[in-house]
Amino acid sequence: MLSTLQKEILKLKKTENAVLLVHNYQTIDIQEIADYIGDSYELAVKASQIKDVDYIVFCGVDFMAETAAILNPDKTVLIPDKNAKCPMAAMLPASLIREARLKHPHAEVMVYVNTWAETKAEADVTCTSSNALKIAKKLDSETILFGPDKNLALYVQDRLTDKKIIPIPDYGHCYVHSQFTYEPVKMKIEYPDAILMAHPECSPEVLKRADFIGSTSQMYTYAKTSPYKKFIVTTEIGLIQRMQREIPDKIFIMAKPDAVCTQMKMHTLEKIKEVLVNKDKIVKVDSEIADKARKAILRMVDLTND
Ligand code: 13P
Ligand code: SF4
Repeated sequence: MLSTLQKEILKLKKTENAVLLVHNYQTIDIQEIADYIGDSYELAVKASQIKDVDYIVFCGVDFMAETAAILNPDKTVLIPDKNAKCPMAAMLPASLIREARLKHPHAEVMVYVNTWAETKAEADVTCTSSNALKIAKKLDSETILFGPDKNLALYVQDRLTDKKIIPIPDYGHCYVHSQFTYEPVKMKIEYPDAILMAHPECSPEVLKRADFIGSTSQMYTYAKTSPYKKFIVTTEIGLIQRMQREIPDKIFIMAKPDAVCTQMKMHTLEKIKEVLVNKDKIVKVDSEIADKARKAILRMVDLTND
C-alpha cells in the first residue's frame, strides 16, 4: 500500500511530465514509486532513451545525475539532494588524467562512470562495473590508465593478463565496499550452501572467494535467474532490500548490515516532492565539457553492444 506522500509524488510526476530514475541503493519507499530502477549502466542507457518528458528526477549520486544530463541536453535533470556526491568520484580529478597521459603517452584512458563530467571529458572511454572487463579487452592499446577504483582496476587486470592496467590514482576506493573484509569469508563457512555474490569494488581478498562478481543489477539478475536459493551479498544494503522485496522466494544474507552509502541515502520522499514542485535543484554541466564527456560515454555504450 502506497503512502499519501508516495501518491502525491506519482500525481506530480504526471502533471509535471517527469520520470523518476532510481539507483538500486535507494530506500524501498523510493524504489516503490520509480519509473525505472537499475545500476549505473542501465540508468545511463535509460537516460539516453527517454523521450517526451520535460523532467528527469534522478535518485542516485552526482556522477549518475550528471551522466543523465550529459545524455539529455534538451531536458531538465533534477536531483532531490545536491549533496549526494560519491566520495570516490572526487578521487580522480581531471588534472590527474592529464598528468598520467604525459607519463604514458601511448596508453588509452578508461574511466569509471564514478567520476565527474570534467574527468570523463579527458577520457577515451568510460565504463561501469558491469562492462569494465569487456571494454578494456576491446581497447587497442596494451596499456590502459584506469581510475578511480583500484579494486576494479585489479579485478580487470587479474582477468586480462595481456594488457597492463595502471590505476590512477593508486588509492582510489569506495568506502562502502572496502569495509567488507573477513565477514563474507566467515559467512561462507557459516552458510556452506549459500552463493557469495560480490561487487567488483570489493577487495581482492573478498573477490577471490566470491562465486559471482557483478554490478548491482548483474547480481540482481543472477539471483533471480540462477537455480540457487541462498545468497550472501557484499554490496550496499539498498540492493539487498530490493532483492528481498522483489525475489521473495530466495534468501539474501547481508554480509554487513551497516554497509550503507550515506550519500545515496540523502534522497527522501519529501525531497523528491519538493524538487518536483520547486524545480530548483537542476543538474548543470558546461556544454563544452558535456560534449567531450558524451563521446566517452557513448563509446562505452557502442563497445558494450558491439
Ligand atoms: P553499479 O553500477 O554496480 O550500480 O555501481 C554503482 C556504485 O556506485 C557502486 O558502488
Ligand atoms: Fe560511491 Fe561507493 Fe556510494 Fe557507490 S557505494 S556511490 S562508489 S561511495
